[in-house]
Amino acid sequence: MMSESSIPLSSLTIVPATPDQQIEFMKRSYPQWGKPKGWSFETYKGLGEDWNGREACKAGRFVLWVLTKRDELESVNFLCSCETFLRPAIVVYPNDSDTLTNHKVENVTGYGIASVFTPPENRGKGYASHMMRLLHWMLAPLNLFHHGQEEFPREVWGDPPKMPGFVREAKFSVLYSDIGARFYVRLGPTPASNAGGAGAGSGETDLGGWIARDTASTVWKVDDSKVVGAFEEKNKLGYNFSHVEASENLTWKWLDETLLKKIWPLDAKLAVSEMARESNTSSKIRVAFSPEEGVGSFMVERYKLDWEKLEPIPTHWGLCKIAQPGDAEELDVSVFATWTLTQLPGQGYSLGITRLRCPPHLFKGLFNEILSYAKAYSNVKEIEVWNLAQELRGVADDMRGNTYEREEHLPSIKWYGSEDVGDVDWALNERFCWC
Ligand SMILES: CC(C)(COP(=O)(O)OP(=O)(O)OC[C@H]1O[C@@H](n2cnc3c(N)ncnc32)[C@H](O)[C@@H]1OP(=O)(O)O)[C@@H](O)C(=O)NCCC(=O)NCCS
Repeated sequence: MMSESSIPLSSLTIVPATPDQQIEFMKRSYPQWGKPKGWSFETYKGLGEDWNGREACKAGRFVLWVLTKRDELESVNFLCSCETFLRPAIVVYPNDSDTLTNHKVENVTGYGIASVFTPPENRGKGYASHMMRLLHWMLAPLNLFHHGQEEFPREVWGDPPKMPGFVREAKFSVLYSDIGARFYVRLGPTPASNAGGAGAGSGETDLGGWIARDTASTVWKVDDSKVVGAFEEKNKLGYNFSHVEASENLTWKWLDETLLKKIWPLDAKLAVSEMARESNTSSKIRVAFSPEEGVGSFMVERYKLDWEKLEPIPTHWGLCKIAQPGDAEELDVSVFATWTLTQLPGQGYSLGITRLRCPPHLFKGLFNEILSYAKAYSNVKEIEVWNLAQELRGVADDMRGNTYEREEHLPSIKWYGSEDVGDVDWALNERFCWC
């Protein structure tokens, strides 16, 4: 049962962490997220420092926030903390004419929120709840005010938090809950925002906070899955990453880190036209993170400490169709997959597919390549993909993929536009934008 904070909420605010507060956060969270991986504290601390140099995190894109007393803004005794990642995003509005053209496409900012953490001695006092409610006002104050949705509750919370210059007005924010769907869904921008109302008709209950969406995982056990046909012989270490002649006369190109970066602008462009096409048959607004600006590649960079222990050290992170046989340079992102490799607690590694675009008739061929890659490492035990497209689920099933509702990392969205969240579809809700 949650006990009331002895500190009045009006005396608290949220600010970006100072360097000392950042170190304090690393100390506090090490037992939760560093030690179980077998890392030393220095290694764990280094990871945070390394992220700051990555494209997805540079120039104020990655921020640690702390909830602290207004008169102790720089204190290392802050009450709780969380991280945000600023990311490029796309919104495609449904067209409202009969022409099925002229979709309004907006390039917007979205935020990913991560590492919500209250130290054990401060838990159960409502601090994380208050911090998350305040965070809406940090990330989207103009959207909230302008749409007349909310008024900042000064009488109970005091003055609104001050938005630093590096924050960009967000159209939406997401998080990936490890504590179920119920905690975050209640945390709207005001104390009373759990009154509900919006979202009616969508089958979702909008209590003002982050709503879980598309939580399915499909998992293949690598040892139980057979690589078929032409791929069988590649089940060896020392895999040759030259082009592979595959089924349907396709030629694949393996993606090293350099080619991976080339994929993302092509993928983003095609995604916009797909979203526009899909909105011809739906009245919903479609919103997606873009994999550009380092976002798509971050999943590889983020897990370096995990995968660099594999032998040989992995160098390839995806597979893409080549547009013209004989022209290895032109990539055709109508068929591709990317991935990262993460350590499973005590059970080897998981190959996590981060982006996937593939028509059903080519999925077996593409999956076989991924499987043969996974099998080249004896300790890669499973392949997992989030929110596999409905039209691929039957094929996945035939290939012994097990699709189920995950209980952790639940993608959850808060929409800051004036529209009902029930009228908003989260497109490309895949692992590439996990944080
Ligand atoms: C989750 C966490 C941030 C909550 O912080 P807090 O300041 O205690 O949160 P609040 O006081 O605002 O709310 C407490 C509520 O959190 C919820 N909660 C906490 N841990 C939970 C868990 N593992 N599963 C489900 N709900 C949980 C409960 O509803 C709890 O209510 P209760 O006190 O009636 O049991 C804190 O427990 C923590 O840091 N845990 C470890 C890190 C973590 O799991 N972070 C979340 C990642 S998504």
